[in-house]
Amino acid sequence: MAQIAYVNGAYVPLSEAGVNIEDRGYQFADGVYEVCLVVDGQFWDEAGHLARWGRSLDALSIRRPISDRALKIVMNQVVRKNRLDSALVYMQATRGVAPRNHPFPGDAVSPSLVLTARRFRLENSNQIAARGVNVITAPDIRWARVDIKSISLLPNILAKEAAQRAGAGEAWLLRDGAVTEGTSSNAWIVNAAGELVTHPKGHAILGGITRETLLHCAASLQIKVVEKQFSLADAMAAREAFLTSATNLVMPVVKIDEKKIGDGRPGPLTMRLREAYIRECRARAG
Ligand SMILES: Cc1ncc(COP(=O)(O)O)c(C=O)c1O
Repeated sequence: MAQIAYVNGAYVPLSEAGVNIEDRGYQFADGVYEVCLVVDGQFWDEAGHLARWGRSLDALSIRRPISDRALKIVMNQVVRKNRLDSALVYMQATRGVAPRNHPFPGDAVSPSLVLTARRFRLENSNQIAARGVNVITAPDIRWARVDIKSISLLPNILAKEAAQRAGAGEAWLLRDGAVTEGTSSNAWIVNAAGELVTHPKGHAILGGITRETLLHCAASLQIKVVEKQFSLADAMAAREAFLTSATNLVMPVVKIDEKKIGDGRPGPLTMRLREAYIRECRARAG
């Protein structure tokens, strides 16, 4: 069956889906995106993703292409039309199509909206989590507003490519000696005191929706969380390490560069948190 994409009001075969070459997303990366997870027909953390979508659009003064209510319908339809039960839904809005010129085009130009859905298998993710992933480190050379989920991702893809070439699943980004986050995930460690440590929200990281829900899970489990910067040395000395994102849920990190974390296997607290996160998302969606 052909995969189906949503492009500006129409559902079209993915292989035929396209945008105008003067779309400002294509010309300037002038747009925002979201990735939402659907498991067994239910969107996880949907409200959080939609809220961040609105915040990213507002931060860049891009009009909402359609209302949140209409967007939810399209999100469901793109999953249904691809006959998927569990999926990653990608949605992207750009400032629209206009002759290439840096300043914003006038209000007459409508934003563009594109959605796709790809199969997700929770069992595969669980299998990866049972082994854990390796991460490498790379300098954080991104701009100063990475809290906006902009489609401008060159530094992220360069670091992710380096990770892949090194046989790692993610790159943790370093700024002024501190780990900010991963290229497409938030970074966490469990320190010697058994506390969870993760970079505080602000302009230097993307405030993950998974991160937010996991903070709630940690509070319910009475696990202490400290939202503060941690160094690479802190990470190397950590009892456990893990990353969070809609795509990875809670994913154990077992090696950073050449250093094994703990005994080199997924940490027990990490796995407890992964289970708690899955339970929480199912409960909220159901
Ligand atoms: C740079 C970055 N940080 C963190 C995250 C995790 O965000 P979320 O948990 O909302 O998927 C992502 C997700 O794509 C990301 O790109």
